[in-house]
Amino acid sequence: MKGRNEVQDKYDYVFEESQAIEFVEGQVMNGENQGGTVDQLLQARIDKAEKLVPSFDAARKSLPIYACRDALLDTIRDHQITIVVAQTGSGKTTQLPQYLHEAGFIANGQKVGCTQPRRVAAMSVAARVAEEMGMTLGDEVGYSIRFEDRTNHKTVLKYMTDGILLREFLTAPDLAGYAAIVIDEAHERTLNTDILFALIKDVARARPELRVVISSATLDAPKFSAYFDKAPIFYVPGRVHPVEIYYTPQPEANYLHAAITTCFQIHTTQPKGDILIFLTDQAEIEAAQENIQETARILGNKISELVICPIRTNLPSNQQAQVYEPTPEGARKVILTTDIAETSITIDGVVFVIDSGFVKQDSYNPRTGMSSLVTVPCSRASVDQRAECAGRVGPGKAFRLYTKRAFENELEATTVPEIQRTNMALTALSLKCLGIDDIIGFDFMDPPPAETVTRALELLYALGALNHRGELTELGHRMAEFPVNPELSKAIISSEKYSCTEEVLTIVSMLSESGSLFYRPKDKKVHAEQARKSFYHPAGDHFTLLNLWNRWSESNFSQQFCYEQFVHFKSLNRARAMRDQLIRLCDIIPVQKAIAAGYFYNTATLQGDGEYRTIKTGHGVYIDPSSSLSQHLPPVKTMLYHELVVTSKSYMRQVMEINPAWLLEVAPQYFKPEDVEGPDNGKK
Ligand code: CDP
Ligand code: MG
Repeated sequence: MKGRNEVQDKYDYVFEESQAIEFVEGQVMNGENQGGTVDQLLQARIDKAEKLVPSFDAARKSLPIYACRDALLDTIRDHQITIVVAQTGSGKTTQLPQYLHEAGFIANGQKVGCTQPRRVAAMSVAARVAEEMGMTLGDEVGYSIRFEDRTNHKTVLKYMTDGILLREFLTAPDLAGYAAIVIDEAHERTLNTDILFALIKDVARARPELRVVISSATLDAPKFSAYFDKAPIFYVPGRVHPVEIYYTPQPEANYLHAAITTCFQIHTTQPKGDILIFLTDQAEIEAAQENIQETARILGNKISELVICPIRTNLPSNQQAQVYEPTPEGARKVILTTDIAETSITIDGVVFVIDSGFVKQDSYNPRTGMSSLVTVPCSRASVDQRAECAGRVGPGKAFRLYTKRAFENELEATTVPEIQRTNMALTALSLKCLGIDDIIGFDFMDPPPAETVTRALELLYALGALNHRGELTELGHRMAEFPVNPELSKAIISSEKYSCTEEVLTIVSMLSESGSLFYRPKDKKVHAEQARKSFYHPAGDHFTLLNLWNRWSESNFSQQFCYEQFVHFKSLNRARAMRDQLIRLCDIIPVQKAIAAGYFYNTATLQGDGEYRTIKTGHGVYIDPSSSLSQHLPPVKTMLYHELVVTSKSYMRQVMEINPAWLLEVAPQYFKPEDVEGPDNGKK
């Protein structure tokens, strides 16, 4: 997209006072000014905030959503699906699952699930809620994101990415482990959330007791309501604080420079209050962090202290937490973020927003079948969300690094839902696995372009995952077990044939780490470059990744190694977690299937209350209490046992979980689809 020099130029920059940017006033958002100038209101708010005593109970009760708690719970009790609309910071994400829990919606052994489009949000919110409830994270309150499951049998509130819940559908299509589901950040309309809408709508019909809350930060609720059969919309009144908007009079050639310049301008001329800067990706965030630090160092004691907090996925958790900590006395916090802070995470204390007006978005061209991440202008809805971040707890100011004209004439009104601009291959494979054959005719809120679906099906056919009738093949079933794109899962499965599974798993895990694994600090460019080159392999970059992995693994996965080689430790750790999971899928599932091929007579499905019934003969059996799976929550649905021991009851000894769909694969002569797809087991 951009030439290398241009990219370089974008990052190499130091602020000088002469570069100050002029801004023109735009409008005031959120209507009326509540008496006094913005600056006076600002000061009043700061004075008030300083008097507040931190207490979770008081903090919880002060959230806008608390005022409607009872009415909201009544609505949820009376309606299976409720749509909740409230401004960012109202308490939707942290409070809704707690309210459902407190109001007793959770039956024995069940949970409240809450989905988030982004893993950082799932993690940080779960941590916050655990704190509010005085619990240890990972026990009563936990989170699950790809390759990291911090939940256990005690978990009652489970935050997770929407992708995780989607995968849970594959093994438990009725979501029996959940008493209630909150689909949060619904306005983001990620691909996974859109698919969840359709699946949940379907499950809700089969499970009248299940409660579903769709939560959104924008006013797109009537559309949600229409889709969910006229579900009620519950509006939580927000607190309205004025945000003054400023635009640049001329277009800015380089928004990164402009953002840094504006940051120092605010710091040197504006009263107290933290700054939130919206950029597009990790590389920009890192570059901005370096530049601001460098400039602050040069300016020395001419300016007061700046605390710079980047929000990124590969940051150690303790540094991540810094974002939420109160700003030290006399200092100003500068938070650097991508669009994630638009609505998914709430940071208090922000008074100034600097908005680049751009976002990195997945863009898929069904004609060429090519996907790419491109930097595109945001929608008006999304830049308005950004501006509102300045007015969450009091009046604020938003500096837009583009012209008013561009805002009015060049930005789209709303963001196109991801489903309409992304590759659907993995999704199509999952849907096929769930027994949804007619993907084009599926009940989507906004259907994907027919061409995209056709492309996805063509790819799955070409990979051998579908046969010529469009049915899932055995290979397709196996591919769907891996939480990676079909091209990658096919490569993993093929590695068995070429006896190179270890290597392919490494490469696949490393490739799946988005963004660069290497970093290059400004003052150590040469060293960093040298380190990177030391991993080069003549066979190409895939093998460079393999080299890096092998040397890291020789160092016993040390952090010191990453530090010396200028590699992101957290990224490598994530690749390692992914590799571990893929290895389990490669090693464990074939073993389970092989044993099932011999022991398919000894299989039973859960009836409820600890009782199982053997699949073909319908005998009541129980898990031997000494088994490691006897206390498993949620209870395993389909069991294979080695032997039955009859005492007071029939007990299954040496049990393991199996996927009932495998029975058709390992014993097609014995099982018919209706044996393994009973009303509780799989979908029609
Ligand atoms: O979901 P919504 O945007 O409506 O709000 P929320 O995420 O539930 O946040 C409610 C409040 O909780 C925020 O205003 C923050 O004060 C606080 N919070 C926090 O301190 N730390 C977090 N990780 C998340 C929320
Ligand atoms: Mg939220």
